[in-house]
Amino acid sequence: MLIKIKKSYDLSENDVTPEQLFRARRRFLNIGAASLSGAALSGIAGGIAGSILSAPARARAAGAPLATSKWSGSTDEAPTDFESITTYNNFYEFGTSKEAPRFNAEGFVTSPWTVEVAGLAKNTGTFDVWDLIDRNKLEERIYRHRCVETWSMVVPWVGVALADIIKRLEPQSSAKYVAFQTLFDPERMPGQKRAVLQWPYVEGLRLDEAMNPLALLAVGVYGQELPPQNGAPIRLVVPWKYGFKGIKSIVKIEFSENEPPTSWNISAPNEYGFYANVNPNVSHPRWSQAKERRIGEFLRRETLMFNGYADEVASLYSNMDLEKYF
Ligand code: MTE
Repeated sequence: MLIKIKKSYDLSENDVTPEQLFRARRRFLNIGAASLSGAALSGIAGGIAGSILSAPARARAAGAPLATSKWSGSTDEAPTDFESITTYNNFYEFGTSKEAPRFNAEGFVTSPWTVEVAGLAKNTGTFDVWDLIDRNKLEERIYRHRCVETWSMVVPWVGVALADIIKRLEPQSSAKYVAFQTLFDPERMPGQKRAVLQWPYVEGLRLDEAMNPLALLAVGVYGQELPPQNGAPIRLVVPWKYGFKGIKSIVKIEFSENEPPTSWNISAPNEYGFYANVNPNVSHPRWSQAKERRIGEFLRRETLMFNGYADEVASLYSNMDLEKYF
């Protein structure tokens, strides 16, 4: 997806952070006794809903198995194999080739991990990721996954509906958008030492898009915690949009009144819009979007409007010119 700058590079061994634990574990929350059902506020400045504070922060090894329930809306298309999903990646913080993230992200420590919630919401503050995500609500959702570069996969994600999290954070009525930010730490994400993109990687959704039941905060794939190259410990999945909307390794969620900046739009506004809905009729300047290349298949497939999710999401855009708002 990189265009203007050198297409790929290998990070030197020195660039790659060795496996290490955070030295100072910042426990922002210490809420072991918080009620699951209570609406009472407790915790740190800014107020945090008791319902979010379900369990103490827990450290887990990457790749640990996750208990999930099956979600009824999964595609019945065959999932892409685990090997391809975890070795053919876009994650520029760990290198710009498809192969680099798998190696350069090895040992990237994702536990403990906190997510700051900011902006126009009642329940702002800093949460351990496993206090934000309720392990008891994890679902396996098999989604089509389509990159603007025209490759596609079918991925069995594990996560929770973004809408469920947003409801618990209680955005104010003035909030119209939700923005996401990836960790900025060039020592741990050596690709950030190079000006490939403006760091940190940022993304956003209109609030009604974020509340669509398909939008997912994923913490796993194939029944286990996400490997670092796929965006551990928490990433966004928006299956009707191009993959670049699916921001990885999220450390901040912010509610705002105005459309937030997004990384690829900052980099090349004429090529990457804010909406980035999969659309076979609107070509990228260098990639016709009419067809796609499913990883593992020989023949190309027709691209489906909204990546096959038109029934679920087309109404979000009914009054919009999709060529203008690409
Ligand atoms: N998130 C961050 N922080 N950095 C990135 O470079 N790449 C995006 C998206 N999320 C990217 C990111 C792009 S272009 C795609 S296609 C998907 O992640 C790829 O997700 P995957 O590697 O799990 O298939």
